[in-house]
Amino acid sequence: MPGEGEQRSGARRLVLITGASGGIGEAFAHRVAEDNCDLVLVARKEDELNRVRGLISARSAKQLISVIGLDLSRQDAVAKLSEELAQRNLSPDVLINNAGYGAYGPTAELPLDEQLGIIDVNVRALTELLLRLLPAMVARKSGGIINVASTAAFMPGPYMSLYYASKAFVLSLSESLAAELAGTGVTVTVLCPGPVPTGFQERAQMRSMRFMRYLSSLSAHDVALAGWEGFKQHRRIVVPGALNKATVYAGRYVPHWLMLPTLRYLQTPPNSRRS
Ligand SMILES: NC(=O)c1ccc[n+]([C@@H]2O[C@H](COP(=O)([O-])OP(=O)(O)OC[C@H]3O[C@@H](n4cnc5c(N)ncnc54)[C@H](OP(=O)(O)O)[C@@H]3O)[C@@H](O)[C@H]2O)c1
Repeated sequence: MPGEGEQRSGARRLVLITGASGGIGEAFAHRVAEDNCDLVLVARKEDELNRVRGLISARSAKQLISVIGLDLSRQDAVAKLSEELAQRNLSPDVLINNAGYGAYGPTAELPLDEQLGIIDVNVRALTELLLRLLPAMVARKSGGIINVASTAAFMPGPYMSLYYASKAFVLSLSESLAAELAGTGVTVTVLCPGPVPTGFQERAQMRSMRFMRYLSSLSAHDVALAGWEGFKQHRRIVVPGALNKATVYAGRYVPHWLMLPTLRYLQTPPNSRRS
């Protein structure tokens, strides 16, 4: 039910966050709530969303925090989400497209459903949600979108091929939209974190990856903070952390004939290593 918390106040912005049941999405929810925004929290685990709502409400009882449990890998998920928002009379001012996951291993061996699900969640649901919410933002001449991509968006990624490709899509789409919407009052920021200790590595089963040893980890809180502040400053791309900025620079400027064997070495799973 919507009435969780208090009634919407016209003065408060409404921010919809996907993947708010943990990790970076939850960190976004806490940070955004500090700016006195109302929230719609979306993910599959409704009990975890209620936990997040409880934590925020304990600090400030004023905000409306609406929880919607939904599996975004389902083809009808975003249509259902739109219906639910309409029923609750909620029109988000800001969309944080954060839900996503990856899978690590030989592309030929990883389960088909798991790999196609990456496209469903990271690409299709993200895009459909944005396409459905954007017209109202443009009509209001305000608001905007934060799409969560990754440093992976800037390079190909052997043994996480679908994930890297999905994030390259998110980066390209976000940059195009940012340019297209310039001057409309609606802004788009793409947040590109490097590794962050969340449930992500567990789900992707990537703890054994050599690459992980060479990369620094910022906290989910630091990453969400950088993304939210960057969005407020109308930044097009936010890459939190110096080492991650260097990774992005390498992804953009090191030729792929050199980059690909290096990435392959760093990312080959232990049981696929030939030496
Ligand atoms: N952690 C990293 O190293 C890292 C690095 C770069 C980019 N990112 C990106 O950051 C974003 C957030 O990831 P995270 O690190 O915070 O990982 P996380 O802790 O695993 O959180 C992922 C969130 O997405 C939600 N989600 C996953 N599948 C979903 C589905 N089918 N339907 C609805 N919600 C779904 C999860 O909620 P439920 O399980 O409740 O559905 C959870 O709230 C992702 O887009 C990820 O690609 C992460």
